[in-house]
Amino acid sequence: MSAVATFLTSTIGRKVLMALTGILLILFLVTHLAANLLILVDAEAYNAYSHALISNPLIYIAEAGLIALFVAHFASGILIYAQGRAARPSSYKDDRWAGGTSKKSFSSSTMILSGAFFLLFVPLHVWGFKFGTYYDAGNGIRDLHRLVVEEFQNPLLVAFYVVGMAILGLHMWHAFGSAFESLGVTQRDTLRRTGNVIAVVLAGGFMIIPLAIFFLGGGQ
Ligand code: HEM
Repeated sequence: MSAVATFLTSTIGRKVLMALTGILLILFLVTHLAANLLILVDAEAYNAYSHALISNPLIYIAEAGLIALFVAHFASGILIYAQGRAARPSSYKDDRWAGGTSKKSFSSSTMILSGAFFLLFVPLHVWGFKFGTYYDAGNGIRDLHRLVVEEFQNPLLVAFYVVGMAILGLHMWHAFGSAFESLGVTQRDTLRRTGNVIAVVLAGGFMIIPLAIFFLGGGQ
């Protein structure tokens, strides 16, 4: 086995892989949120941005990289969870906050469940939007704005996104601090607070999109 393979199959290697892929996925979500907030501001600019993105040949490399990040993150998360369960003498029914300086929280003890939700969310989301109805905005540009605004007229879909983004926030609440701790950063309190802010901004920011479209309309 090569040195890299040996490292990645060790407990610490898996944690580092999960941390690095998690941080890159957070960066993707930050840019994805910023881009999608344009929906509420300027339909033309949103469509132009998305057109520029998908007509760039490098998009295939970026998409392959994104899929690899998701797969590596999910796989290392599941392996670490399974390893933890196998090594744990007591059942998870005994799980409870250990008091005092314990790092355990609802967010940290539900990471595997909140993460698993995205195995359902991401394929459904990409299917609905990326591979959803193709509306033409003219000049060969896709009217993605129209599709998103139409989709978020459906209250069930809005509810699914609001609940989904709350689960995203729950996952992020613990994820950011934990990732940097796995990479050896020791400023635990600062990391935790920064992670909490990122969780609220990402979940709240994404939630605003379906809610604003449903209640206020889709922007110009
Ligand atoms: C209200 C929230 C969101 C909106 C309005 C939104 C919108 C979109 C749209 C319109 C696309 C298609 C882009 C295109 O074809 O050019 C897309 C793609 C995608 N979205 Fe979202 N998104 C949201 C939240 C999320 C979240 C929370 C995640 C991940 C957890 C996510 C992951 C993705 C991925 C992986 C793609 C495929 C990217 C690609 O293949 O280029 N999105 N999103």
